[in-house]
Amino acid sequence: MKVVILGGTGLLGAALRREWTGDDVVRLGVEDVDIRDTGKVARMVEAAQPEWIVLAAAYTDVDGCESNPELAFSVNRDGAVHVAFAAKCVGAKVLFLSSDYVFDGKKMAPYETTDARNPQSVYGRTKAEAEVRLLEILPGCCIVRTAWLFGMGGKCFPDTILKAAATRPALDVVSDQRGRPTYNIDLARAIVQLCHKDATGIVHVTNAGDCSWFEFAREIVKCTGLSTEVRSTSTERFARPAPRPAYSVMSAKSLEPYGIAMPTWQDALQRYMRERNAAG
Ligand SMILES: NC(=O)c1ccc[n+]([C@@H]2O[C@H](COP(=O)([O-])OP(=O)(O)OC[C@H]3O[C@@H](n4cnc5c(N)ncnc54)[C@H](OP(=O)(O)O)[C@@H]3O)[C@@H](O)[C@H]2O)c1
Repeated sequence: MKVVILGGTGLLGAALRREWTGDDVVRLGVEDVDIRDTGKVARMVEAAQPEWIVLAAAYTDVDGCESNPELAFSVNRDGAVHVAFAAKCVGAKVLFLSSDYVFDGKKMAPYETTDARNPQSVYGRTKAEAEVRLLEILPGCCIVRTAWLFGMGGKCFPDTILKAAATRPALDVVSDQRGRPTYNIDLARAIVQLCHKDATGIVHVTNAGDCSWFEFAREIVKCTGLSTEVRSTSTERFARPAPRPAYSVMSAKSLEPYGIAMPTWQDALQRYMRERNAAG
């Protein structure tokens, strides 16, 4: 099977490189093809003739999106549209990476794939609008919504906490945002399976279980054996440019038809720590 991964040089791309074996996989970054350039996208797809395009390329700086909305929409929504039209021309299937930030976070139970989108941030709006356009252009595409990604190969929350914990006696972390951390390796494995099973429609893919950022940080510090204190703070006291959903836990029901069960985030964190330690 021929596969093109756009966003192949990012955090998820690093895991897809490791996990996707046995197929002809090409990983591309922005230097190879900028998805804002519709002509380049079309030529690349025409030349590659892939069976699947995994569209992980995005402007992922959530706070940066608030101050650069034009850039955010041109990459995350318009870029996705360019890829969808190019895929349609050659009959390629598309798996698009979306986000829990398409939801407003006001629900008190896990979000289902049928729940209404109501993004609160520019980043969330770019992803929500991309989803709608993709489903119009390619009704059979697969949209994978994920969340709180961590792993080797890019910036991530555990890495930030580990670095801070090594130099500071205490860390203040917000306890009023709840979600599902997701190990890039587990997400990559699920994506490979979804493509092999010809998945269509919206699928939620995160590790199992849920926590606040505070609980996540506490578990991360516990893994190190350091005595750094992790203190609970609130979103109000830790103001950021982009609003984050207070609750963005996504139900795993949509994975059941594909026979995919995701490990817990605690199990995933242990494996990440081992991977990190082994890398030095
Ligand atoms: N990280 C999370 O917590 C999270 C949560 C939910 C959803 N997601 C989604 O999951 C996907 C993967 O996330 P990630 O964390 O792996 O992202 P990432 O590490 O920020 O990587 C982004 C990737 O997109 C590429 N890219 C950026 N602008 C581009 C452009 N104009 N044209 C072509 N490629 C471009 C980058 O290429 P270069 O490396 O060459 O710059 C890189 O390969 C994204 O769609 C993201 O929105 C992520």
